[in-house]
Amino acid sequence: MFLQEFVRAPLRTASVMPSSRALAARMIEPLQRSARDAQDPPVVVELGPGTGSFTAALHDARPDICYLGIELNDTMADHLATRFPGIDLVHGPASSLSRALADRGLVGADLVVSGLPWQAFAGSAGTDLVADIASNLAPSGAYIQFTYSWSRWAPPGRRQHRELQRFFGYVELPTTVWGNLPPAVVYTATEPRWVDVPESNTR
Ligand SMILES: C[S@@+](CC[C@H](N)C(=O)[O-])C[C@H]1O[C@@H](n2cnc3c(N)ncnc32)[C@H](O)[C@@H]1O
Repeated sequence: MFLQEFVRAPLRTASVMPSSRALAARMIEPLQRSARDAQDPPVVVELGPGTGSFTAALHDARPDICYLGIELNDTMADHLATRFPGIDLVHGPASSLSRALADRGLVGADLVVSGLPWQAFAGSAGTDLVADIASNLAPSGAYIQFTYSWSRWAPPGRRQHRELQRFFGYVELPTTVWGNLPPAVVYTATEPRWVDVPESNTR
């Protein structure tokens, strides 16, 4: 399915295969850290879940999570709904995050996991998206995102890192997950902050 969707929309799909278990394990680490002291089921949002590599790891690690997935690709979203019956899934763009949380009466996600490609973070829409993610996290929440290691030093990768530093007080030094094809770097951002984004300052 990945290969087929990649041929149809390469920039949006960004990969010819789902992420590995090694990358999924790294992506859900903040959930395991917060699970130690959390009493209520954590609110977890997944952006771009695709066919569910991270979704499976999240539910295996913490079956009681209050989960919300947002997936743009209808074919992948249908597959995900079949693989995880009863899952709360929005078929739409990541920019519907605030509305989707508000519609469910959810305030302050504990974790936002992103499998979105760099294209979703391009231009002013990308800046708005990172601002939205930060403003929808609980003060103690975390945002985790990966990018492929070859793109880390390319302008879109560097821009993504800068945006994280702008909207979060702390961005952990990225670590490389070699057990993924291609290898991936993972960014974990905490201490979300509200930053006013003037339109002229979003390029
Ligand atoms: C690189 S794949 C990652 C899929 C899965 N998380 C994994 O790691 O195997 C990127 C996913 O993001 C989805 N996507 C791309 N742009 C999106 C957007 N603006 N909003 C929501 N989902 C998007 C794609 O359809 C695809 O499922």
